[in-house]
Amino acid sequence: MSFNPLKEKGIALEKQLRSWHDIVKRPFNKYEVDCYSRTRQILMNGIEVEAWNFKHNFSRNCQDKEILNLLALSRRIEDMQQTTVNWMTPACQTVLETTLGYEQVAVDLTAWLAQNEPDDYVRETFNFGLLEDFDHLYRYSQWAYMVDGINPDEILQGMTDVVVSRPTQNHHNDNGIRLRKHYDKSKASPQTKVNIYTLVSGEQQTHNFYAEHGMMYPNDDLRRTFGEICDVEEEHVTMYESLIDPTESWFEKLLLHEFTEVCTYYNCYKDEVDDKLKQIWEEFLAFELGHLQIAADLFKKHEKRDPEEVIGEEIVLPCHFESQKEYVTNILENEIDKRLDGKEGYTTIDKLPDDWASYEAQTIVNGGYEDNKKLEIPDCPGGIKGAPTEQVIHLIKTSIGRDIAIADPKLVKKEPELIERGTEEKAQAPNTVPVEEWKEMSKIDMMEF
Ligand SMILES: [Fe+2]
Ligand SMILES: [Fe+2]
Ligand SMILES: [Fe+2]
Ligand SMILES: [Fe+2]
Repeated sequence: MSFNPLKEKGIALEKQLRSWHDIVKRPFNKYEVDCYSRTRQILMNGIEVEAWNFKHNFSRNCQDKEILNLLALSRRIEDMQQTTVNWMTPACQTVLETTLGYEQVAVDLTAWLAQNEPDDYVRETFNFGLLEDFDHLYRYSQWAYMVDGINPDEILQGMTDVVVSRPTQNHHNDNGIRLRKHYDKSKASPQTKVNIYTLVSGEQQTHNFYAEHGMMYPNDDLRRTFGEICDVEEEHVTMYESLIDPTESWFEKLLLHEFTEVCTYYNCYKDEVDDKLKQIWEEFLAFELGHLQIAADLFKKHEKRDPEEVIGEEIVLPCHFESQKEYVTNILENEIDKRLDGKEGYTTIDKLPDDWASYEAQTIVNGGYEDNKKLEIPDCPGGIKGAPTEQVIHLIKTSIGRDIAIADPKLVKKEPELIERGTEEKAQAPNTVPVEEWKEMSKIDMMEF
């Protein structure tokens, strides 16, 4: 079914206030929930956080009392929606389990968006980020096994592979090099705009979750892994948000935010297999249609233009979740050595100049304690310095002889080769796991859980 959201009334804003009992519902069962119900719930939390935050920023840049009032009213609803959605998470779902869910969102959502993205440059950027989140999923999976004692597949349910990708230590860049060329608001399709707004919300929430929860574990190496990957998510927010045309007005951005909420809720409603979540998506889709009406009226009044010029006349599908193993493997095997070139484009490791801007950043962040430079611990590879995401591989190897990898055995066997092609020679973390060790590890068959 396709429909024109601008022609639907939805539920009027003044009817959207709910009781605390409706706002805070009973959470899902973490042992029974479908992994893609969980990814939808994680993503929609991020969508609501962005909607709420955007409206605060709009208000801080606005003097018109009528607009301020509408923003205040609808923003409160966004906030209540956020509580409902995020608090479907059961208290017994650990931080690492939720983390695996976040990276499953990043991998399978980005793969879906890339395949539905009409703009080649935007698609290339999605594919670039995809391989980084795929490596995060792999690094966190090692911790989930070691600290929470779980098979990562208890969360991923066999839909997403766990295998090494472009190594996280190579995701750290010069602050400016992530900035991309933005789309042209007058030419970009609504699909491109909604794709980017959706992904920015997801990546921003991933950053916020790591920033707020990484300290909840006592283990220093794990805390530092969260710190390291949290910073990459900050780079991802920078990268994806820079694709948005900065000349879109506040009213145009408001319209796009509400349209993105309509499209994502519609997509969730259409796909949902969990009755309770489906009910939430249905109700909130009706709420968002009400918000969209308001945004469209403000746009017409203040911009004297038709909202259709920006969002078109039909819904788009920005968040369908399904297994993307084949697509991800293809990008992994072809683009693991891809890097940012410093001119808003892409290159490969072998073509990086000696003065590539990110080498300096990598040398610093993958280094050690500033005031303990002389400290070396004999049995700790590299001493207490280096990338935490490399450290975790040393730890799992010490513990069980090899890493946790869940994928087609042919792909798992390729790990040493992927590492060799995907790691930069320069500016390596001092604790980088050598290729010989990867080869050694790959001789041991993957463990049975
Ligand atoms: Fe909302
Ligand atoms: Fe990630
Ligand atoms: Fe990310
Ligand atoms: Fe909204």
